[in-house]
Amino acid sequence: MRDPAAFVRGNTAVARPPLVPEIALHLATEVTPLWQATETSLARGAVPPPFWAFAWAGGQALARYLLDHPELVAGREVLDIGSGSGIVAIAAALAGAAAVTAAEIDPFAAAAIALNAPLNGVALKIETRDLLDRTAAGWGVALAGDICYEEPMSSRAVALLRRIAARTGRLALLGDPGRAYLPREGLIERARYLVPTSRELEDREGREGVVFEVLPG
Ligand SMILES: C[S@@+](CC[C@H](N)C(=O)[O-])C[C@H]1O[C@@H](n2cnc3c(N)ncnc32)[C@H](O)[C@@H]1O
Repeated sequence: MRDPAAFVRGNTAVARPPLVPEIALHLATEVTPLWQATETSLARGAVPPPFWAFAWAGGQALARYLLDHPELVAGREVLDIGSGSGIVAIAAALAGAAAVTAAEIDPFAAAAIALNAPLNGVALKIETRDLLDRTAAGWGVALAGDICYEEPMSSRAVALLRRIAARTGRLALLGDPGRAYLPREGLIERARYLVPTSRELEDREGREGVVFEVLPG
């Protein structure tokens, strides 16, 4: 598949996540066909799963929290780690962030973010290099929605959130619905939402999406 944007457009419909209806995204209408399409027609397993085609419960919770508390990001430089569809980055931009970087290593996700940002009238910087081992310089607020499902990515992402949190005046927030690698310590709960989910994707009709402040390591 040479044209990720065409693949995104051809396998999604524009929809609004239930907890964040302010935001429009190119999303999968059914789970299984898209998962199969990425496995079979896209280079047989060499392509990551289409995380970008779903608004994950942790991302929806964090996006809701930002739209309801715009003062947390307004006027600040924001980094969204593991951006997927871009839902959290778009929420930060809508909340008035001065600049938002959506960090995402999957080129299909980057294409989805590039399509989703203008749908919502916002501009994002999309960074496809892996930033997780970087120093904390530059960003005032670091965000991550639903990134605690896989190691070692989860630990590396949380470590970056903690490095940013350690700088004076900085804030790091994580949205998570109880994934396997959610840290047990060093988090303060800020908000909790019931996020409608599909049985096909999450094996249940709702998950509790929790927004945590991430404390320095
Ligand atoms: C479950 S998705 C969450 C997407 C979105 N934040 C949400 O909540 O809907 C996690 C995303 O992290 C991305 N990811 C994995 N490793 C990464 C890395 N090293 N840097 C940036 N993104 C990464 C994956 O490609 C995937 O799109």
